Amino acid sequence: MLSSTLIAPSILSADFSKLGEEVRAVDAAGADWIHLDVMDGHFVPNITFGPDVVRAIRPCTPKKFDCHLMIQPADPFIQAFAKAGADLITVHAEVGPHLDRSLQAIKAEGKEAGCSICPATPISVVEHVLDKLDLILVMTVNPGFGGQRFIMAMLEKLRTLKSLIGDRPIHIQVDGGINEETAPLAAEAGANVLVAGSAVFNKPDYAKAIQALR
Ligand code: DX5
Ligand code: ZN
Repeated sequence: MLSSTLIAPSILSADFSKLGEEVRAVDAAGADWIHLDVMDGHFVPNITFGPDVVRAIRPCTPKKFDCHLMIQPADPFIQAFAKAGADLITVHAEVGPHLDRSLQAIKAEGKEAGCSICPATPISVVEHVLDKLDLILVMTVNPGFGGQRFIMAMLEKLRTLKSLIGDRPIHIQVDGGINEETAPLAAEAGANVLVAGSAVFNKPDYAKAIQALR
């Protein structure tokens, strides 16, 4: 059981022309983790950045680099993200038939392993790999873009997942549409790590924005 709520700002909504400064700024503003959204234009309809960018911003903060891979396939790139400085690597259950193998590959790099599930994906996909998971990411929007609306049906999914996890030390993360209204709903339903892109980076005062989400 992991209880205290952690805030992981997603740099997807940061100013990419000064990414290093943005990472330092959210670190100083009280971010617990830094959420890195990697998109390939294939699994999701958008392209962001790869391991070289992760490596470039690694010196900007000692905080946990929470690397959300929205790429298909994921396995051929796990080592590159690990070497670039990711601390936690999350793959999507939907990208391949061998989720267990992907999680083993992440663990073999000495990193924490996460599995993400899209809104339409049932919880049952993680049921038999719980022993290999440090985190389960319940997408609360369809992945690809920041600034989308939180899907309320995910609250019930979170409650069911929480009871499945029981007292195992697995983080429950939510990602998409998290703001001052939805953060308490997600936390109450069982999430303990809240990813927020636009609710932090589109605000003038990052510290105030992070505080408002807690
Ligand atoms: C969506 C990404 C999210 C996104 C969240 O595919 O995984 O991390 O940045 O953005 P907001 O918080 O603006 O919904
Ligand atoms: Zn994400």
